[in-house]
Amino acid sequence: MCGIVAYLGNQVAQPILIEGLKRLEYRGYDSAGVGLLKNGKLLLSRSVGRISALESMLADHDGETLGIGHTRWATHGGPSEKNAHPHVDFSGKIAVVHNGIIENYATLKKWLISEGCDFKSETDTEVVSNLIGYFYKNVDGSGGKRPSDGQNKFEWAVQRALNEIHGTYGLAIICTDFDNMMIGAKKGSPLILGVGENEYILASDASAIVKHTKQAIYLADNEMVIITSDGFRTKTIDNVVVSKDVKEIEFSLEAIELGGFEHFMLKEIFEQPQCLTTCLGGRLDIKNNRVVLGGIAAQLRELSRTRRVILTACGTAWHACLVGEFLIEQLARIPAETEYASEFRYRNPIIEDGTVVIAVSQSGETADTLAAVEQAKERGATVLGIVNAVGSTIARQTDSGVYLHVGPEIGVASTKAFTAQVAVLAMIAIELGRRRNLSHDETAGYIRELASIPEKIKTVLEQSDHIREIAKANIDRNNWLFLGRGFNYPVALEGALKLKEISYIHAEGLPAAEMKHGPIALITNGMPAVFIATKCSQYHKIIGNIEEVRARGGKTIVVGTEGDENIRNYADYLITVPDVADVLQPMVTVLPLQLLAYHAAVLRGHDVDKPRNLAKSVTVE
Ligand code: G6P
Repeated sequence: MCGIVAYLGNQVAQPILIEGLKRLEYRGYDSAGVGLLKNGKLLLSRSVGRISALESMLADHDGETLGIGHTRWATHGGPSEKNAHPHVDFSGKIAVVHNGIIENYATLKKWLISEGCDFKSETDTEVVSNLIGYFYKNVDGSGGKRPSDGQNKFEWAVQRALNEIHGTYGLAIICTDFDNMMIGAKKGSPLILGVGENEYILASDASAIVKHTKQAIYLADNEMVIITSDGFRTKTIDNVVVSKDVKEIEFSLEAIELGGFEHFMLKEIFEQPQCLTTCLGGRLDIKNNRVVLGGIAAQLRELSRTRRVILTACGTAWHACLVGEFLIEQLARIPAETEYASEFRYRNPIIEDGTVVIAVSQSGETADTLAAVEQAKERGATVLGIVNAVGSTIARQTDSGVYLHVGPEIGVASTKAFTAQVAVLAMIAIELGRRRNLSHDETAGYIRELASIPEKIKTVLEQSDHIREIAKANIDRNNWLFLGRGFNYPVALEGALKLKEISYIHAEGLPAAEMKHGPIALITNGMPAVFIATKCSQYHKIIGNIEEVRARGGKTIVVGTEGDENIRNYADYLITVPDVADVLQPMVTVLPLQLLAYHAAVLRGHDVDKPRNLAKSVTVE
């Protein structure tokens, strides 16, 4: 949801900014821009479309070693050159790139216009540049407030403006009077400062930094950083000095490269055996028949006695939560429910004494999930996080949590994060079950089976070409159904979401038995219906549902269990998965659906990693 990158150092800034923006492009890609500063002169380039479009219009700049860049996902004002960042204030001195939303921009804009400031765009961001510009110009007459002794005027104007702003921001700001200074500030949107040797890179996430340095500081909300070639200082936006530890960025450059795959999504689908191995690694204690989750060890006792668990997330992570709900109820016999974070935060939720809330997020930055975490904390719940991005806001805001450890996920459509989220939820459910009601043998069985999954899913990946053929045979169909029961019902929802988001084919996911209450009316000759009909407790029931679709001319694409000959009679197309216990099946059955969506999108000629209108990290409401 918009990516920002800024550079100050001894190298030429422009190629570094462009490279950083390409790394951040998954956050937004409808327009982009860079601003370079040298000798008091600001050079601005902005363009609609991808970073490559911006790159092709750039002149060579070899002198500037300070600059800011932005890749946009439009919120206020459509994608256009004038709405692309950087935004420059009325005086032409202050340039800003911004990720987030300024909620009171309309009021501020009206006031700034009444004070004679010009606006050129429809964005909320331009209020930031103009407000900073306003205070910078009126430093001596701004409501009796003045810079403290010796305080730099630019720095002061930024603080003064940020104190008037409501909303969220990750900001990088430069001023034409300061050739050797950039300022970053954060509230609600991520911002990291990479600290290299004689160079600094400010960025929305570490992927734009790791090529240059692995040393970084993570800014907290309401903090700002003032960077010059002599070093950096951190303080709050209220001018209180804060000291920050420099931390090591945990992932490598290889993790964010394609590594021979055509798309990140395909790479990430194929990484799943390795990712699950890492995610489960050291956590399944087979010898002592228990699960070890260091991050929530202190909370497990409370969790095992809790009266109610609420799981909350958005998108794919919400589907993982639904699997988690079923797992916690089935294995630990604790009442659990799944809430969309965007609904939870606004519906005055009941949090009784002893309610535990689990927030699940790949990025750890999703605005709605973060707000749900804050809401739950305010109401006294213990809040745990299941997060992939180390050091992200949700990871820091929750009381404790479990990291996925699957490395950066770049493809906008989430794949490896989903299977790892389910794996973590399965580990939590098994451990709670062990403490509550599972027998020794039942616990041992689940732990052993979970440990075997990374190896088992390789057979699904081997069917990628076969799945491509299935996608090809149905590629002209514009409406699909995805149906599953029990633990595979959330997988059906996830399969439909994957197809929709990257291939733009309309798809609906349903619990299979619900079909007869309405959606069955949609079935016409040749309509693809994807059934997850593995050997499970509801096997015979779902075969009944397959019959209902076949009787109406639908084409059945069936995910069945290896060795199940009977299922062939019901499948126009069959994909097989290894046999695993019902409760652990989602980690296996989702893979064919990820591949189906991937191949359908490629066959339709879409940009798989950057689907239209979507962004990876949704840091706005
Ligand atoms: C966006 C992404 C989805 C993701 C959802 C939640 O919509 O496109 O792939 O599932 O956000 O993201 P999170 O980072 O919180 O898991």
